[in-house]
This record gives sequence, C-alpha cells and structure tokens, in this order.
Amino acid sequence: MTNRRYLISGLAGLALAAITGSAMAQDTVKVGLILPMTGPFASIGKQVDMGARLFLAQNGSSFGGKKIELILKDDTGSADVTRRIAQELVVNDKVAVLAGFGLTPLALAAAQVSTQAKVPQIVMAAATATITEASPFIVRSSFTLPQASEPMADWALKNNIKRVFTVVTDYGPGIDAETSFANKFKAGGGVVESVRVPLRNPDFAPFLQRAADAKPDALFVFVPAGIGAQFMKQYVERGLDKAGTKLIGPGDVVDDDLLEGIGDVAIGAITTQHYSAAHESAANKAFVTAFKAAYPGTRPNFMAVGGYDGMRLIAEALKKTNGTIEGEALVTAMKGMNFESPRGPILIDPETRDIVQNIYIRRTERKNGEIYNIEFDTIPMVKDPVKAAKK
Ligand code: DHB
Repeated sequence: MTNRRYLISGLAGLALAAITGSAMAQDTVKVGLILPMTGPFASIGKQVDMGARLFLAQNGSSFGGKKIELILKDDTGSADVTRRIAQELVVNDKVAVLAGFGLTPLALAAAQVSTQAKVPQIVMAAATATITEASPFIVRSSFTLPQASEPMADWALKNNIKRVFTVVTDYGPGIDAETSFANKFKAGGGVVESVRVPLRNPDFAPFLQRAADAKPDALFVFVPAGIGAQFMKQYVERGLDKAGTKLIGPGDVVDDDLLEGIGDVAIGAITTQHYSAAHESAANKAFVTAFKAAYPGTRPNFMAVGGYDGMRLIAEALKKTNGTIEGEALVTAMKGMNFESPRGPILIDPETRDIVQNIYIRRTERKNGEIYNIEFDTIPMVKDPVKAAKK
C-alpha cells in the first residue's frame, strides 16, 4: 500500500469510528434520577432507586432500540439542589427524561426546568395532588394523598369512629391528607381536631400530648415515608398505644421499610394505601422475591414500586415511540398507559397525567412471624379526587 492508500484507509477508519460513535451515542438514552440519597429522607431515595434499577435488571435496559443509562444524583432533600441538578442534567448531560423526586418541594422545584426544556418529569414518590399541574411534562407513578385519605374517612364513618384527632406533617402532602380526610369525615357527621408538625426535625411529643388529652376515638396520622418509626416511638412514650385510641391514616406511617423496626405497637393500625408488600398477586410475589434477592435484608415499600413502575412507564413509552426521545412524544405515549403493577392495575389518566389505581384498606398484623399491612378491602381504580372535583 502507498502512503496515500494508508492515509485513505486511516481516514475511512476514523469516519467509521465517528459513525459508530454517534450511532452508539444515539442508541443511549439518558435518564436523570434525582433523589434524596442522604439526609433524613434517604430511605425514600434508596427505595425508589432500588425499584427503578430492579426494573432495568429484570427487563434488560434497551427499549425501542434505545439503551437506558441511569444517572443518579443525590439532592439531599433540598429543593435548591434539586433545581440545580435538574438544570445540569438537562443542559450538560442532555438527559431525555428527569425522574425520581422524593418529596413534594423537590418535584415542584424541577417543574419549571421540565416545562422549559420540554423534558418529561416522572414523579416516582412525591404525592401532593397539585404536582401534576405544575408542568405539562409531569407524569406520576406514585399516588396522591387525597386518593389514599378519602377512603379512610369512609371507613372511619362506617366503623363507629366519631371523633378524630389528626396529626400531619406541615407541608403539601400532610395538608392534603388532613383536608381531604377532614372534609369527607365532617360531611358524614364526624368531628375533627387537627394539628400540624414541622417537616424538619419534628418533635411529635407536644402534639401527641394534645392528642392524648383530647381522648379521640382515632388518631389520623400522616408523616412522610421513613419517619414513621420516630413518630411511633413518641406515640408509645405518650402512652397512646395503651389509651385505646385507634391509629388510622394513609399508609406512610407504617411503611413496609420500617414495620419490623416499629414492632408490635403498629399492630391493629388501619391504613389506606395503594401498596403493601403483602399484596396478594402473582405479579407482587414475583416482585417481592426479586427485590429481596437483589437487595438482601430489605423489603420493598410503596416508594420502591413508584420507582419500578415509573421506569416501566419510560420503557413502554420508548417502545411506543420506537426510540424517539422527543419530550412531547414520550408524554403522549404515557397518557392512557395501563398495566398490571405489583400493586394491582394502574392507569395514567390521559387528561391529568396522574395515576389511577386501587386503594386498599389494610390492618397491620403479624403474619408468618413478620409484620405486614394485610389488605382486607379494595376501592377499585381511584382517581385523584382533588383534580376530579375541579372538572
Ligand atoms: C411525600 C409524600 C409521601 O406520601 C411520602 O411518604 C413522602 C413524601 C411528599 O410528597 O413529599
């Protein structure tokens, strides 16, 4: 070969490398997963991340000809950090999708970024009703507090509970839980007294003392996932476990991740929620078995299912668009999507982009030596009542 031919074949080689390189770059779709992995809400981040990764591990990570590359970032639970990370992921890493969002303020902090960049924002954990209205690019795989709390009011009214004291964390989801429960319960003739506890460094003792003094029939509680053990410790210290006051509420206070640590004091609690690790279905048994095998010593809670199903929404959307990563096309693909989740059937409401799902009434019990929330009744395919009422 002449030098010239060497040169040509060298250039061809470079060109080939460039083509392969760009084809490879095109074949990868980056998903930015923003979660609180450290700080007081780390249990939420860890569960969502484990769920999301389990879905990819089980299904291969290629969908519609695109390989999903997850980029996990820790926002430490601070909204300013979430916003900055969301911007960096969009501008520098060119992610096609933003996902995660462990708390309401964190989901809201990224909404402007997703709207401006036209990047889908999959909310896998945060649960204030209005979140989906903050950006047309938000799709939710978790739940809403009114969706879980209104059925609790119906159950309480039917079960001879007349006076309820509510204790909720003082921010979006807590206020949603309190208002949706209280409105429904009062409309049915019930009486409610309410207190709200700060989100940061909560000391439940003075609020629980007021609850103990009020001697209600039931104590309705919302605290974010991961905080229930702290709450229950102070609940016992105030003697509320012995006072005959029933513990009720959305399921966050008895989340599966904490139940063994909380122990017998949780037994008898009645909660309403969309997921229990004890949910009786083949899909859930397979999910729980795979989760425990992948992450020994842990049990999936509702946050893990939000991560698992959120990743499935992204995967199914990529399949539907044949790998097109344009934001509006992906969101359109997710609208109306439905499948069987480990929690039961789910649907993405095409009008609101929020999740429609069963809400189960559960009693916390010991089963085969372990403590679980055992479902005993189902309210099928509940829409977020706050958005449904606006129509
Ligand atoms: C949030 C909601 C929850 O139900 C929960 O367990 C934790 C956080 C939230 O929206 O901030």
